[in-house]
Amino acid sequence: MNKNNIYVTQPILPEREKLNSLIDSIYESKVLTNMGQIHCNLKEKLKKYLGINNLSLFSNGTIALMVGLKALDLPFGSEVITTPFTFAATAHAISWCGLKPVFCDINEQTMTIDPKSIISHINDNTVAILGVHVYGFPCDVDEIKVIADKYKLKVIYDAAHAFTTKLNNQSICNYGDITMLSFHATKLFNTIEGGALVFNSEDIARKATVLKNFGIINEDTVSHIGINGKMNELQAAFGILNLQNVEKEKNKRKQIAEIYTSQLQYVPGIKITFNEMASNCSRSYQYFPIRIDQQKYGISRDELYLVLRKESIFARKYFYPLCSQFTHYQDEPSSCESNLPVANMISDEILCLPFYGKLANQDIMRICKAIKLSQENKR
Ligand SMILES: Cc1ncc(COP(=O)(O)O)c(C=O)c1O
Repeated sequence: MNKNNIYVTQPILPEREKLNSLIDSIYESKVLTNMGQIHCNLKEKLKKYLGINNLSLFSNGTIALMVGLKALDLPFGSEVITTPFTFAATAHAISWCGLKPVFCDINEQTMTIDPKSIISHINDNTVAILGVHVYGFPCDVDEIKVIADKYKLKVIYDAAHAFTTKLNNQSICNYGDITMLSFHATKLFNTIEGGALVFNSEDIARKATVLKNFGIINEDTVSHIGINGKMNELQAAFGILNLQNVEKEKNKRKQIAEIYTSQLQYVPGIKITFNEMASNCSRSYQYFPIRIDQQKYGISRDELYLVLRKESIFARKYFYPLCSQFTHYQDEPSSCESNLPVANMISDEILCLPFYGKLANQDIMRICKAIKLSQENKR
């Protein structure tokens, strides 16, 4: 790996001595998985950190989302309204559960699922809404609840980017029937691979917890068609230690976000999306997305992406292509471009800049200089 390369993210890692000591305890207990002591400790610590009552840990966020959908007992083949402006896992989890993703458009400011567009896609087959708190911007949870109550729909949130997002001073995980968190290495808080479900009902929590362990209730009873979604002890050990560093990492990212904002906010054609966040939300500091207006900036997002690559700066086009453009979904009626004008526009303009606590000041300035120069050279 070239040392000069700057990637979009870098994981936080536990201190080696502390990790060694937890690994020693695993060697001593000989418990590697199946909801061991470290798994249970992490679960309790996360409940406290997030201020929630019901949480179950998983081997990754995608399996968690699939188990969450299964736990809701949605009829096979029924429709789940979701956003195309997300990672592949969101739409694929719906399909893997034998349900049909129906794409609706997004709000231009928050880039999350647009309540008006949700309503226009509801029919007799609709059973749930799956919103994504993309980049940690909260979905319009109040409006979505009104719609869900009116049409008797379940609400699931993909909060893979929203670990530290708060709305009205409480974790965003408090909204909806189920919320999924991802603890993948690219996330602010990671357990190498990993994830969790947060539930607003004890019954669904119990069911999902059985489903993630093959449907096993006890040695004599297997009550459901389950799967293996358990988080193991080594993942949980990473989690216990990384949780101690999350606030520090968040604060460093906050400073980096301030530098990016001060350097880039007046560059013609560059839009800092987070400047539009409502005052009752606090950010997740998962990504630093900007939008490029080709008319005003002079070159397109794709051209800027290539300019940065030449400078060894690996920004990412999250989320391009849209899920509605994937081979498997592109022919669905809800995937057509005229149904998703805002999602298509933003997907062509968005670029996530490198964003992690250890990003050096000189590298931030290198990135900002490359962005400013590309604009000036096009005047
Ligand atoms: C929005 C979103 N949903 C779901 C996932 C899947 O999570 P995991 O990688 O933990 O399976 C990711 C990324 O990892 C994501 O960005």
